[in-house]
Order: sequence, then C-alpha cells, then structure tokens
Amino acid sequence: MAPSIIGSPAAENTVPIKTDSEPPRSSLKDRYPAYLPIWDYGEKYPALEPFNHVDHGKDADPSLKDLLSEGSEIQELKPTIGSEVTGIQLSKLSSAGKDQLALLVSRRKVVAFRDQDLASLPINQALDFGGYFGRHHIHPTSGSPEGHPEIHLVHRHNNDWGLDQFLAGKNSSVSWHSDVTYEQQPPGTTFLYILEGPEVGGDTVFVDQVEAYNRLSPATKARLHELKAVNSGFEQAEFSLGRGGVVRREPVKNEHPLVRTHPVTGEKALFWQVIRSIVGLKKEESDALLGFLLAHVGRGIDYQARIRWAPNTVIVWDNRGTAHSAIVDWVTGERRHLARITPQTERPYETPYIAEAEQAKV
Ligand SMILES: [Fe+2]
Repeated sequence: MAPSIIGSPAAENTVPIKTDSEPPRSSLKDRYPAYLPIWDYGEKYPALEPFNHVDHGKDADPSLKDLLSEGSEIQELKPTIGSEVTGIQLSKLSSAGKDQLALLVSRRKVVAFRDQDLASLPINQALDFGGYFGRHHIHPTSGSPEGHPEIHLVHRHNNDWGLDQFLAGKNSSVSWHSDVTYEQQPPGTTFLYILEGPEVGGDTVFVDQVEAYNRLSPATKARLHELKAVNSGFEQAEFSLGRGGVVRREPVKNEHPLVRTHPVTGEKALFWQVIRSIVGLKKEESDALLGFLLAHVGRGIDYQARIRWAPNTVIVWDNRGTAHSAIVDWVTGERRHLARITPQTERPYETPYIAEAEQAKV
C-alpha cells in the first residue's frame, strides 16, 4: 500500500469515539462549549462546484506595513520556513492587512500569531474573517460546532482515540500530509487556533515543500514534473463510517500534479499527500516513488519548523507549500482542542520544469 495517513489517529480528523473510556459530556469542564464537536447524521451536502479563486496575496503591498504595524514584532523561526508574530490582532486587520497576511504566509509557509482573540469571538465572526481568504471548505467527515460545519475540529481528550492501541502497531504518531488534497480545489491560507491543549506536548510540525523540491537533483525534478497523483477521499470516508461517523459529502478522487506552482510566489512545491497512486506508473513503481518522497520530507529537519502551542495562538499556513503533522506525545489525559478555518484556493497547476542552467539566464 502506498504511504498514507489514512486511518492514523494523528490525522486531524475528529470522528465519534467508540469507547467506554469517554467521560460523559456533562463531566467535561468545557472552556469553549460552543466548539464541542457534534455529528449530524442527517447532514448531506452536494458535490463541490468549481469556483474562481482570487488570491489576495497577489494584491498585497510587499512592505507588509498594514499587517506588521507599529508595536509588532516578527521573528523568523528557521531560514526557509516559519515566523512568529506578536503585537498584532488578526481579527482587526484591514483588507490591506489581510492581503499582506496572505502574502507573508505564502512566503514564510507557516506563521504563528500569539495572543489572538479569534477563539473568543462569536464563531460567525471568526468565519467572516477566514472567509476573506477563499470559499470555506466543509469537511466531509469531521465533527464540527453545532450550526457551523465550516469549522473543522481537532478534539482529543483522555485516551479517547486509543494511543496505546495505535502505538502497538506503529513507532511514531508523525504522519505528514497536506489537508484535503483529494478536493479539486484544496485549501490555501489555512487557520488553526487553539482552544485548549496540554501543558507540554501536542506541537504541530511543518515541512517546507518548496525547499523539499529545491533539494532534489535536476533529473528527479524533471521526472516529477511529468507526473500526476491520484488523491483520494474514499479511505477517509470508510474510516469515518467504520468509527460510527458521518460522511456529509460523497468522497471524491482528483488527480493533481506532483509539483505545483504557487500563484503568488511562483515557487514550485512538492504536493503529494493523501495519494493512492501515481498516474501511469505500476504499483511497485508508484509505491517506491511515494516512499522516497515520504522519507525525503521526513528527514528534512533542516527545512522543518515545529511550533509549540500556547494559549491564544493562531497558526496560519499555506497548504500549497507545506505538509504538516500533529505530534501526539502527551500521555497526561489533557484535552487538545483546536479549530480550523479552511479556505479553498485554486486548482493545483504546474508550470514546466526549467533546468538550473536555463533558469540562471532568466
Ligand atoms: Fe492536517
């Protein structure tokens, strides 16, 4: 089977839990009760329609003056990926500031904003803010706050997802992926904010897929440029049904290029998660290539950024130029509860491979 995150409890997919260990809901001390996940078994949505996405990063003033206003501080976490910002309030940004946010995130790949009020706003206001960056994606299987299916929840408490059981069959909870790549228009600028988390542990790690591409040899780059991969949502739907969960929208498969070009930066990035196979290759060939790519980004610690959550942190990443993984390393039973706003973006496209020698002449 091709390398995959499907079925991993580390995947950020909150499904109902079949276990006796789940405490009754009334016993939980809910800091954010409006954000507790529900599953409406009658909720069904039609297939997603294509839409025209306009990336606001293209309109942005590159000085970022409306985003990084007076009193703010920005610190780069790693040379190619990751920044941390303090001293601004995302929810108060002007349109110009939001445009610059999209640009900053496309350049730095992932940015952590501290001391934000997004979690304490009415959910409608949080969604209004996120909706500036693209059409809201409604996840086909994840639990969501009542009345707000556009919010994707990550919610784990006590031992409700069987870490012991999972680690009995695997060495690590790390599972690299980009979100919902099976959609025809997967997400771009994506927001994840913490409601509650363990004192220590539960970081999220990101890998720079542009740098992962840049590290490849010209011969490998040229080969990957010719390939498309089948991104499938079927296994996720089956996993949800197997856990007593919902499938709000019929699963889809979409073929996307293994190397996509970013519409704002022009950078090329590997784009290969939630993949079943590579078009035109035989199974062994496809599995070997996907295995290589998985190992390649997994050992790319020199272009990864691991972000520690703190209360009121919002992490914004560009799903087009990164892969990420939750890290499930706390055994204290503390709840980890996060909300994701997931604006969709353009259909992935590729531009032709340009050999380095040719590129130098441009
Ligand atoms: Fe994810």
